[in-house]
Amino acid sequence: MPAQSSSSPITPASARGASPAAAPPETPTGRAADHPTVGAAGPNRPLADPAGSGAVPAVDVPRPAGPADPVDVMPTTVEAAGSPAGTTVPAAPSAPATPPAPPVPSPAGEIPLPADLAALRETAVGVLRANDLGDITRPSPTLYPHQWLWDSCFIAIGLRHLDPARAAAELLSLLRGQWPGGMIPHVIFAETTDYYHAGPQRWRCDRVCTTAGGVQSTGVTQPPMIAEAAVRVGEAMTRNERVDFYRRLAPGLIRFHEWLYRERDPDDSGLVALVHSWESGMDNTPTWMEMTKPVAPRTVRALRRINGDDALDALRRDSKEVPPDERLTSADLFTLYRIVRELRRSRYDFRTIRDTFVPLVQDVAFNAILIRANEHLVTIADEAGIPIPRWLSRSMRRSRAAMNELWSDGLYFSRDFRTGELLHHPTIASFLPLYAGVVPDDQVDGLVKTLLSPRYWARYGIASVPTDDPAFLPRCYWQGPVWVNMNWLIADGLDRYGRREAADAIRANTVEVIRASGSMFEYYSPLDGSGAGSNRFSWTSALLIDILATHPQVGLTSADSTRNP
Ligand code: DGY
Repeated sequence: MPAQSSSSPITPASARGASPAAAPPETPTGRAADHPTVGAAGPNRPLADPAGSGAVPAVDVPRPAGPADPVDVMPTTVEAAGSPAGTTVPAAPSAPATPPAPPVPSPAGEIPLPADLAALRETAVGVLRANDLGDITRPSPTLYPHQWLWDSCFIAIGLRHLDPARAAAELLSLLRGQWPGGMIPHVIFAETTDYYHAGPQRWRCDRVCTTAGGVQSTGVTQPPMIAEAAVRVGEAMTRNERVDFYRRLAPGLIRFHEWLYRERDPDDSGLVALVHSWESGMDNTPTWMEMTKPVAPRTVRALRRINGDDALDALRRDSKEVPPDERLTSADLFTLYRIVRELRRSRYDFRTIRDTFVPLVQDVAFNAILIRANEHLVTIADEAGIPIPRWLSRSMRRSRAAMNELWSDGLYFSRDFRTGELLHHPTIASFLPLYAGVVPDDQVDGLVKTLLSPRYWARYGIASVPTDDPAFLPRCYWQGPVWVNMNWLIADGLDRYGRREAADAIRANTVEVIRASGSMFEYYSPLDGSGAGSNRFSWTSALLIDILATHPQVGLTSADSTRNP
């Protein structure tokens, strides 16, 4: 059982009442000013519920939006007020294992954590506290100043150890962004003047619909981790608290899963299709970039011809905090903006998008996460006493079977929705079917053996692209770095198949790489453990807290034994 909130070091906050988020009827809307953003409190509003009670807080709908963002393919000279505050701490090289420190009691009161790990956990708690915007948590203080769907889910998984009610509020707040048709968006814009490169003006979703909470959002979704996170949060609650939480979450969550199948699997294949790499959560993973490059805007091609990449680099605004070589290339970024513009013109409607140039991918990781989420949805709906529509149950079953169509040469791959061709670029996504629990017995050994090979499993967990791949760049976003959320998902998948030793070794890798860098980076080089991307990153912090609470023994493993088993 996870640690209870009574042992939480988080400062108490004001009590919150209950108010389920309900979706309004479908209404076309008018001006952006009608669409507030979320996040009622300042960044340092504390997290916890006063009595440590599990009463689920209300999620509130706050004031109108901040400044406009640049639109369309090329950035304009219009700048949002409030440029990013703070800078990224330079990458720290991996340090040798620290000598054993005297143990101190762990927050769970179970296995004592060495002093350095207890301090690291406090750092992680501090990051979550600093990124807390009331009942949402931003992924990082500068690069990502709003609420992201799957980030909030991983964050809730960590928050449950500090304050289960606050963790539940993090998930319920996602329903504020729900679209009338059921979609839960990948970003729900917060009440902030901080600059964000793909803000409301790029999407203009207010021209298409009103969200449940009247807040502004993007027009695409992200991996459906909500059900997983809700079940984990539910484990930290009493039965009554959990049933109350599930009753409030289940109607919106069922509608989200219905939307995924109805809208994104119109041919009943069992696999949902994505319309943008941002939906996969792995923005510049080679599989997606190979589909994206051919639709680069003419202006991008022309500028590259004249000036190489420098001219494009000078125009981008997302790489001011993080060095550009740790992010996706400018050409790829501007191509992703072009796709957003086409989605906007298609009013975010899949049947229209189908007839455009927009790449459509049945993404293996997204579908694996959906399959697992479906299982959890059944648990949540059962406990809430809310039935799942029969047609949805049929679609859910179809997904499990369809996954095997993505198997080829010992790995799983995403598929081009239009051509039905597999996209044979191996990445970390190839292993997510372990997390889904859909790998047939005779395929498990081979898949796990590949995972354990040094091509994938370097020193610090699973490289997001194999280390001998031509696309591999150890510190570049989804082109090679180790991601803590991927380590977490794959470790969970290995547990499902009884591969405990390997699962714990990945968890030990995760703790070790964070410990060596001393900071909560967005991602880490699989080769030397140096941190990259944004710093003070919320899900790294949350999942570290989770691993230390649920598997404290891995924190005691020495660095040398964290190599792959
Ligand atoms: C970004 O802003 O770069 C995000 O990754 C999009 O989700």
